[in-house]
Amino acid sequence: MYKNISLSSKAQGLILVPIHSETTGKSPLWPKSARAHDGCQNAVRAGTFMAEAGATCTVGTTHMLVGLGPVEGFSTDRMRTVGAKVGRALDKISSSSIAIDNSASWGSDAAAKRAMGGAFAEGISLGTWRFDALDGTATKREARKAQLTLWADDAAVRDGFAHGLIIADGVNTARRIGATPPNIANPAWIAAESKKIARDGKMKVRVIDYAQARKLGMGGLTSVGQGSAIKPCIVVIEWTPRKISARNKSDHLVLVGKTVTYDTGGYSLKVNNGMKGMKYDKCGGAAVMGAMQTIAALKVPMRVTGILAVAENMVSNDSYRPDDIIKLHNGITVEVTNTDAEGRLVLADALSWACDTMKPSAIVDIATLTGGVGVALGHFCAGYFCNQPNLAKQVEDSATSTGELVWRLPLWPAHQEFMRSQHADILNSNPLRAAHPIQGAAFLSYFVKPEIPWAHLDIAAMATAESANEVTGGGPTGWGVRLLVDMVEQRS
Ligand code: BES
Ligand code: MN
Ligand code: ZN
Repeated sequence: MYKNISLSSKAQGLILVPIHSETTGKSPLWPKSARAHDGCQNAVRAGTFMAEAGATCTVGTTHMLVGLGPVEGFSTDRMRTVGAKVGRALDKISSSSIAIDNSASWGSDAAAKRAMGGAFAEGISLGTWRFDALDGTATKREARKAQLTLWADDAAVRDGFAHGLIIADGVNTARRIGATPPNIANPAWIAAESKKIARDGKMKVRVIDYAQARKLGMGGLTSVGQGSAIKPCIVVIEWTPRKISARNKSDHLVLVGKTVTYDTGGYSLKVNNGMKGMKYDKCGGAAVMGAMQTIAALKVPMRVTGILAVAENMVSNDSYRPDDIIKLHNGITVEVTNTDAEGRLVLADALSWACDTMKPSAIVDIATLTGGVGVALGHFCAGYFCNQPNLAKQVEDSATSTGELVWRLPLWPAHQEFMRSQHADILNSNPLRAAHPIQGAAFLSYFVKPEIPWAHLDIAAMATAESANEVTGGGPTGWGVRLLVDMVEQRS
């Protein structure tokens, strides 16, 4: 792992020679335009390097062959995986600078080259990241290496490197926040980290504390968080650029993240194995924090506000209970059937408050809302809901271009009716255990003004990965940062 990965100011270091394989994947295709180098040619002829995506082979101390896989189906997604694997190989040999050979072949135009360079740099940075803040005296891990610098002769590829590194920093921020354990990362810690991110990015930040939230009538947020010694809050991070492009004058995108620093389930307690890993229940908010960091670093020319609904769902004498009836920010009353359906309660107040006070032109919320979304869709994509076709298209376009995939699920009046309660306006969860992800979205829809375009991303199955994920490996993925940043870049 590296302390710092940055763009080089000149061609230097290990020369990386990217090579495609034949369609069969059985042998490497020597790139005609690549710099002739006998050692590399010989290594290829020796037949041990097949140029599968991400395969590496060092040649002496000066060159490294890098497999890209077959030309067919080559994509930024595959390039990101290549970057991650190359990054880990470089880490192993303690390389401190690399220069890509023949980078002009990475695309037919500047945009394509920039995208490939971006994906490669993202891969390197995401693939070599790890959480080491809490390594102790018995750690077996090597100390971080100081520095890795990247170079490519093609200016568009270099531009992509710079962009990709900024994005990856944001993703890694989200991963660090996700990985930080609940005895440290409590609601007060989230507020403090948000202030650091805001300060570094020259953004405004405000915290609506517990007392203010109660005054504002945020009964969802305050009920969920009242059982914890560290009380809930709303954090607002605002990016207002110096220069707003003409077409962005009135555009204001609001991002809302579920930031439950720990989810025990409350009195509807999670059973033993269901609780472990619930430190990741803040990953929606962590993605918003990472996205805001990146948006400021990229100085995007439009207004974006990040809102975190922060609470810890604990069991104590002060906790809310099943059967409580509470009133939320927009006056809707909610019968709590299940204290474990807490994410929608904290989000609902944040959404309603955003609609009232922020004049959003669109709202995107992101949340580890339901285990059910993983039952429906697995860990291949997030489930999403949207009330407006243009915004839905933006979500899907950004999903395609970043590789953070989504699949749309239905949200109909019948689903909203399903949430009705006998003794209050609505239930937080229908005891008929059906369509949990849709119930979550249907509940939230009561708190968004219908004329405001709104998308809800349920990332419960994407926020963490088993080791199946070739780019980030196991643990927190930072899922959503790339998608949200791309949406902002596409709009601005
Ligand atoms: N934080 C959980 C959702 C979750 C589950 C995230 C597993 C990641 C992995 C959420 O607050 C929750 O408990 N949801 C319940 C909803 C139910 C009570 C309606 C669920 O998914 O079972
Ligand atoms: Mn829960
Ligand atoms: Zn939760």
